[in-house]
Amino acid sequence: MAGEGEKAHNAPPQINPYGRVDEEVAAVAQRDARRRKRIKCFAYIAAFVVFQAAVILIFGLTIMKFRTPRLRVRSAAFDGAFTVVESGATPSFEMRMVAELGVRNANFGRYKYQNGTVEFYYGATKVGEAFIPRATAKARSTRKFNVTVDLSSAGVPVGELTSQFGSTPGVIPLTSRGTVRGKVEIMRIMKKNKSANMDCTMQIDVQSRQLRSFSCR
Ligand SMILES: *[C@@H]1O[C@H](CO)[C@@H](O)[C@H](O)[C@H]1NC(C)=O
Ligand SMILES: *[C@@H]1O[C@H](CO)[C@@H](O)[C@H](O)[C@H]1NC(C)=O
Ligand SMILES: *[C@@H]1O[C@H](CO)[C@@H](O)[C@H](O)[C@H]1NC(C)=O
Repeated sequence: MAGEGEKAHNAPPQINPYGRVDEEVAAVAQRDARRRKRIKCFAYIAAFVVFQAAVILIFGLTIMKFRTPRLRVRSAAFDGAFTVVESGATPSFEMRMVAELGVRNANFGRYKYQNGTVEFYYGATKVGEAFIPRATAKARSTRKFNVTVDLSSAGVPVGELTSQFGSTPGVIPLTSRGTVRGKVEIMRIMKKNKSANMDCTMQIDVQSRQLRSFSCR
């Protein structure tokens, strides 16, 4: 086997009468190969640029996007004073509510908000309000806190309560509205003022002393 290989190696180089033509063919082939390589290279660069643009676009549409935080009533408890007079000429309610509120921050960055207020209404009459202390909601999370509200029907026209308890006894409908103003900070450099608003409706069940069917817009 080794002898055969040696023989092949030692064979005299074949004389090619078309040597020059072969050289040209080789040169053309080389040029073609180089061009193909260059085209391939450009294709890679183009693909990379498109990929990069897609990444930047996705980044811009998700992470860098400013979303409006939301202020919500999450739940409420009535463990303190609770007096409801449903019958008679002058119905009324007086109660202390501990409401758990939440500032939901869907941004990829923290939301620093200032002091705010939340007000509770029966019809068009304000029946209670609470102070919201300034705080920070972390990125993509909900800052929860409790507020204590004293609800009183003192300012509500008597007729409104009479008709309420006449049609659906045992239920006190309320709405709540509130605002906190603050700043969303994405990667600590992009900042934007954003307000979180509350617009909720709820019902207090007098018998069970619970909040039910509450929803926020
Ligand atoms: C926010 O409320 C706190 C009391 O909890 C008070 O000390 C502070 O001055 C208030 N800040 C503003 C900007 O009103
Ligand atoms: C709010 O108060 C309720 C009890 O009334 C408690 O279970 C809950 O953990 C409190 N929430 C916060 C955020 O402190
Ligand atoms: C953002 O709000 C602050 C006060 O909280 C105010 O001083 C500032 O001018 C506001 N910036 C913009 C761009 O509205």
